[in-house]
Formats: sequence, C-alpha cells, structure tokens
Amino acid sequence: MRTLVVGIGALGGTVAARALSSGMPVWLATRTAESARALRASGLHLSGVGGPAAAGFLSVAAVDEYREADKFELILLATKAHDALEVAPFLSSLLTSKGTLLPIQNGGVSQILAERLGGSVVLGGLSNLGATMVERGIYEQRNSGHLLIGELAGGLSERVAKIASALSGAVETRTTPNLRGAVWAKLLLNCSVTTIGAIAGQNMRQYIASGRGREVFRRTYDEALSVALANGVRLERMIVEPIPPDWREAMVTGSDYGVWLDEVIAAYGDLKPSMLQDFERGQRTEIDFINGYVTHLGKQLGVPVAMNAAITAMVHRIEQRQTKPDPARLDDLLYEVD
Ligand SMILES: NC(=O)c1ccc[n+]([C@@H]2O[C@H](COP(=O)([O-])OP(=O)(O)OC[C@H]3O[C@@H](n4cnc5c(N)ncnc54)[C@H](OP(=O)(O)O)[C@@H]3O)[C@@H](O)[C@H]2O)c1
Repeated sequence: MRTLVVGIGALGGTVAARALSSGMPVWLATRTAESARALRASGLHLSGVGGPAAAGFLSVAAVDEYREADKFELILLATKAHDALEVAPFLSSLLTSKGTLLPIQNGGVSQILAERLGGSVVLGGLSNLGATMVERGIYEQRNSGHLLIGELAGGLSERVAKIASALSGAVETRTTPNLRGAVWAKLLLNCSVTTIGAIAGQNMRQYIASGRGREVFRRTYDEALSVALANGVRLERMIVEPIPPDWREAMVTGSDYGVWLDEVIAAYGDLKPSMLQDFERGQRTEIDFINGYVTHLGKQLGVPVAMNAAITAMVHRIEQRQTKPDPARLDDLLYEVD
C-alpha cells in the first residue's frame, strides 16, 4: 500500500521508523523543506519500548513539494490537530480515487475532517502509542500501545481490514466497529485527566488529592459525558469503564464512584499531562479540539458546558502567558462557573 506519513514529529517519526525498518515503503512529508533536508541527512533513529529501529535512506520532502502526480493509497496524518485541519484539503488531492486519509489526533479532528472531506475519504483513528521526539530524527517509543482504526460511521469494512493489515507490519494496529465510541472515551479523559492536570501544573494523582481538584474533575467529566451521550455516542471501554457507576446519583460522594475514580487514578494518575509539556515549550495546545470541541458541541446540543468553556478560555490565557499553571487556577475555575 503506497503510504505517505505527514508530520514527522514524535508519533509520525516513530511510526515511520518502524514502517521503514520493517521494509514497508513509506514516503514522508515535513512542514518545511529545511526539516526534510535535515531528516534526509540524519535518517530516523528510534529507541525505547519495542526495541530500536532505524532507517537511513528516506523519501522525504516538504508537504507542498508533493504533487497530484504523487498519488497515495493511504495518508497517515500525524501533525497536531490545528495543522491537520489546515493541510488535510491539500492532502486529499494526493489520494488515489479510493485512497484514505487517516488522522490519528485526539479529540474531534477525524470527525471534523470527515464532515469536511467526506466519510469515504476519512477513516477514524486514534493512538494509544506514546512517543516523544528527542530531536529531529531521534525518537523514543514510550509504551507498547497501538493504533486503533475504524469507520467513523460505525461497522467494519474491507478498507479498515486492509489498512490495519498494512500498518500492522510497522506498529500494532487494532480495529473497532465503534471507533467513535473509542475516540470519545479517550476524549473524556483528555478533557479531564490531561487538561486539568496541565492547568494545575500537576498530574492527576496530585490534583485529585484536593477538594477543588475532585470538584473540577467531576464537573468537567460530567459535562463531557453528557455531551457524548446527547450526541448519540455509544462509549467504548478503554482501560476504565467510561460511565461511572450510578452516574449522576453517586457523582459526588458515592463509594462506587470513589472506586471508579481510584481506577482512573491507577491507570492515568501518574502521567505528566502532555498539555503541560506544550505550556512548558511555549507551544500552541490542542485545547480547541478537546474541551473546546466538547463546549462547541454542548452548545449546539443544549447541554450545559460551563466548566469546559471556562477551562478552554483558561488554557488560552495560559498559552498567551496571561497566567500560569498552578493548583490555584482550579479555584479560579470554580469561582468562574459558580
Ligand atoms: N506523541 C504521542 O505520544 C501521542 C499519543 C497520542 C496522540 N498523539 C496525537 O498525535 C498528534 C501528533 O502528536 P506528536 O506528539 O507527534 O506531535 P509533534 O511531535 O509536535 O509532531 C507534529 C509534527 O507535524 C509537523 N507538521 C506540522 N504541520 C505540518 C504540515 N503542514 N505538513 C507536514 N508536517 C507538519 C511538525 O513539524 P514542525 O515541528 O516543523 O511544525 C511536527 O514535526 C497530536 O494530535 C497528538 O495529540 C500523540
């Protein structure tokens, strides 16, 4: 399957290194010609979970150097969310007539792209594979995660099976008939575990130890879950059940809710929030596709989303350096929504 990987950062570089070292022919697209030149000189070097992998000779160019003559059956879109939305229309012109664009960003990206470009072009994907880029050309795989792909409209299809089989030569790729449910289950955690941690400058285990942390988590998750259900999503279980036991009745103090929360903490509580790393590096976050996406949909569906809206605005203020991540920001959020 003639495949183009777009965005040779942490995730794209990791998948590309595994693909090329396993003999899968992939072409690579960077944002700039300068990055392409640097990668051609350095090659790809991957270490970490799954063992080392390297690729010396790369077919790499800046994305806008690819022409309509360079048709691909599969384009794996591994940029950040805002870049994905920007570059996707151009990428669709590089696809063969039955070609597929596979975005693997968190949150609302694949759904938004499917609405813009059509469900027959865009396949849903998400990554449980964790990776970091040490420097350009040097990557580290951080866990033994997998890619999960599926039709956004639901069900299984021949193309899902074909693409999973092609990608499985590089990284573990699973399929699901309920990709939308899996994307939303991850989104609920991105909205709460990750974003609140980034705002507090802490991991979940740290911020949930305070009453304010528990309250912000409860309200954020509750709103996002209500939006998912109002949107007709049938949530897929990831590590933890996405709907807390006795949801709503027991949200505040129920012991079953406490057990559920402990499971969430055990699974995700010690991870450093990726959005906190974005803050530290002065990078734009993907908040508009996480809590911002929930807020947008909630308003459309008439579901209250005050906490997710306040969180989205707070993250933008941190990006603009008007305020800083700190546990006290959680008090600010509670004050704003009350
Ligand atoms: N890393 C993980 O462990 C992980 C896990 C799950 C999900 N994700 C999701 O996967 C996506 C990618 O994450 P990441 O960590 O790999 O990000 P990243 O390290 O920032 O990599 C993104 C890459 O895309 C490049 N890029 C930007 N615009 C482009 C364009 N128009 N054409 C070609 N390349 C372009 C960037 O190049 P420049 O640096 O030159 O801008 C950068 O190399 C995100 O949505 C993230 O949330 C990541």
